[in-house]
Amino acid sequence: MVVLAAGEGTRMRSAALPKVLHGFAGRSLLGHALAATADLDAGATVVVVGHRRDEVTAHLSDIAPAAVPVVQAEQHGTGHAVRLALAAVPDDARTVVVLPGDAPLLQASTLRALVDAHDRLGAAATMLTSELADPTGYGRVLRGDDGDVRRIVEHKDATADERAVREVASGVYVFDAAALRDAITRLSTDNAQGEEYLPDVIGIFVAEGRRVGAAVVPADETAGVNDRVQLAAAHRVYNDRLLEQHMRAGVTVVDPVTTWVDAGVTIEPDATLLPSVDLHGTTHIAAGAVVGPQCSLTDTVVGAGAALDRVVAKQARVGARVTVGPFAYLRPGTVLGDDAHVGTYVEIKNSSVGTGSKVPHLSYVGDAEIGEGSNIGAATVFVNYDGVAKHRTTVGDHVRIGSDTMLVAPVSVGDGAYTAAGSVITKDVPAGALGVARANQRNVSGWVQRTRAGTAAADAAARANEPTEQTEGET
Ligand code: UD1
Ligand code: CA
Repeated sequence: MVVLAAGEGTRMRSAALPKVLHGFAGRSLLGHALAATADLDAGATVVVVGHRRDEVTAHLSDIAPAAVPVVQAEQHGTGHAVRLALAAVPDDARTVVVLPGDAPLLQASTLRALVDAHDRLGAAATMLTSELADPTGYGRVLRGDDGDVRRIVEHKDATADERAVREVASGVYVFDAAALRDAITRLSTDNAQGEEYLPDVIGIFVAEGRRVGAAVVPADETAGVNDRVQLAAAHRVYNDRLLEQHMRAGVTVVDPVTTWVDAGVTIEPDATLLPSVDLHGTTHIAAGAVVGPQCSLTDTVVGAGAALDRVVAKQARVGARVTVGPFAYLRPGTVLGDDAHVGTYVEIKNSSVGTGSKVPHLSYVGDAEIGEGSNIGAATVFVNYDGVAKHRTTVGDHVRIGSDTMLVAPVSVGDGAYTAAGSVITKDVPAGALGVARANQRNVSGWVQRTRAGTAAADAAARANEPTEQTEGET
């Protein structure tokens, strides 16, 4: 199998990335092309690299370590690219599949069917084509009066009559290896672009009386991505396909238009995705969980029956029946035990929250272990950073942390202990103790009337103090 990925991709207008490293749904364009070959038992995968080949090769070794990169230092056309690639295709390969690196919508089942049709036909070449409403830019498939394919003409070389043809070559071919090795050496560069065109092989085969097959498939399988408008359009098609698979498998997707999932995401039946949800990487949603509205989850596991409302999570594990949000941020290393609750404006990082424990409001939990059945009062901060290093905090089972407690790590609070609201806890609190670490209150009687005379507060205080000479509080 040969994937062509040497081109420059000028129309992407990208300084950051070579074209085939752009992508969507958690995969590069190159990754999508390789995924289309999943159902073939391809003996060897050869990827032609050229433009920014160091980056493309590095990426390839990440996603497909067994693939062999072949360098096409100067891009003299798709035929030239295949000619170079054939040097790396094993001699005993009977069939060679050629794919463009920029056609991410091709499905594995379609490619499998094309190879099967090719084998049945005993053809020299079998290609995928599509009928396009606007075929501008593509190679046109020219057929004879008998309907058989004669040759392919590139847009730039086509006459006005030929340009009126709406059937285009997709760039996806299955070749008999021997026939390809023979014809590829005879390509001419006498054309508008001065390149060796791979599609010219088709005309050569027909002229030699060899058999050529073509399968016409819907345009959304063969669309090429040359710019970012086409990238977004391809992503939309791909996402719709994924969502349809999930829905047919029993997942409720309330608003497919605002729901985006990566290829690697898994969702069990009877999970529900509410509007505006994006799920990335290896995220897994268990049965009965409700995610959304407005959640963005990356590499996160959501347990059965959990409910996440307006949550951003990365590399977090959420147990069964846990409720999170609205408005919570779960950062890497967050582990929420079954039946836990994390509420509004809570951020958690590298911490575990035990079964049934609650962090309901306005808190930061960093580098901590919280046991079972504990409650972390509103606006508690796990003060984990001393400006140089991070330290850990341990909170036991059935602990009550008072509101606005600062737990200055390293510190631990034992099982069944309490902390008083507003405490700055710098020393360990033993099991069952109440940790109090705050100044005692003092009331300065009559202060407002003396120092803020004439204000609404002073007037209100005067009215409240009128009936008796002596107020009840301390003086
Ligand atoms: C190509 C086809 C055209 C087809 C269209 C489908 C040719 C001459 N034309 O046109 O018939 O309708 O795809 O999308 O094949 N590449 C190399 N080395 C090169 C040139 C290209 O590796 O020297 C790679 C590119 O990186 C790309 C693929 O081949 O992945 C297709 O090249 P591109 O320049 O995009 O061809 P199109 O003009 O789209
Ligand atoms: Ca292209």
